[in-house]
Amino acid sequence: MKPKLFITRELFPDVIDKLSQYYDVEVWDRYQAPPYEVLLKKAKEVDALGTLLTDKIDCNLLSQAKNLRIVAQYAVGYDNIDVECATKLGIYVTNTPGVLTEATAELTWALLMAAARRIVEADHFVRWGEWHRLKTGWHPHMMLGVELKGKTLGIIGLGRIGSRVAEFGKAFGMRVIYYDAIRKEELEKKLGVEYKDLDTLLQESDFISIHTPLTKETYHLINEERLKKVKPGVIIVNTSRGKVIDTEALVKALREGRVKAAALDVHEQEPLDPNHPITAFINVTLAPHIGSATYETRHKMAELVAENLIAFYEGREPPTLVNKEVLKVRPPGFK
Ligand code: GLV
Ligand code: GLV
Repeated sequence: MKPKLFITRELFPDVIDKLSQYYDVEVWDRYQAPPYEVLLKKAKEVDALGTLLTDKIDCNLLSQAKNLRIVAQYAVGYDNIDVECATKLGIYVTNTPGVLTEATAELTWALLMAAARRIVEADHFVRWGEWHRLKTGWHPHMMLGVELKGKTLGIIGLGRIGSRVAEFGKAFGMRVIYYDAIRKEELEKKLGVEYKDLDTLLQESDFISIHTPLTKETYHLINEERLKKVKPGVIIVNTSRGKVIDTEALVKALREGRVKAAALDVHEQEPLDPNHPITAFINVTLAPHIGSATYETRHKMAELVAENLIAFYEGREPPTLVNKEVLKVRPPGFK
């Protein structure tokens, strides 16, 4: 009998076909995430789970899932999974790093430039008739933005995505500085970026782009106190996790004009309530958590989920295992 696998959303048919050679696959085919009760029920029945960042895989669920051996996450971030608990229980957790670096870095750059040159505002200006109403085709003060060349880009979190964004910054003639919990001297040399402590980064950056995972340490890393330290007129971009920024504090800083603009792909609550105060700012560009949303990348992510599940099935260490310590608790495989 094949081990049972429950996947919480439709991936690509070719990937499901491939997985079906090894697993008895069930796919949740609704657009919305399965409710927690359904997830819990399925987790108790299966040997493997394919999850998304919208699925809460907590210790309560993991400890009731007696046959569950692997949780294969279709995302690079895994803050929705209690990894520590999984490790204790001998459950493997995998993610999809690397394959989404380019897509996420590219979206970051699209947002950064949109904020710098007020692209969304400009679109509204044309589309909703303001340009027409003003009866002038061109004006020296119309829709002025800011340039990138010669400005300082501060990157918080110099992982794969942060490094790629740093390269874009260099290509645009920016000075690039970074803060990371771990200083990366090799990378600094390779990329031509300078390490700064967080306070200095806040004080010196004209643009700040966030690329940290969400952890206890990074929760509300950008809070009211830190937003008081920024260079007035800074533009903030976030494509990591919404909870890294205290949104209420950001709203305040935008209101006071200390932050000139923001571009946010991720939010503390997703989906974002359209009545949330952040949506009232025309200088805030919003996107619905689409960092990795390209055809190419989403397919590569699905393939990596399958590779992890197949490696585990064959008793091999999954290629992008998150909790390596689990190898000491239980060997890979269903035997
Ligand atoms: C998406 O946010 C991811 O973590 O892959
Ligand atoms: C994610 O892939 C990162 O390391 O930034």
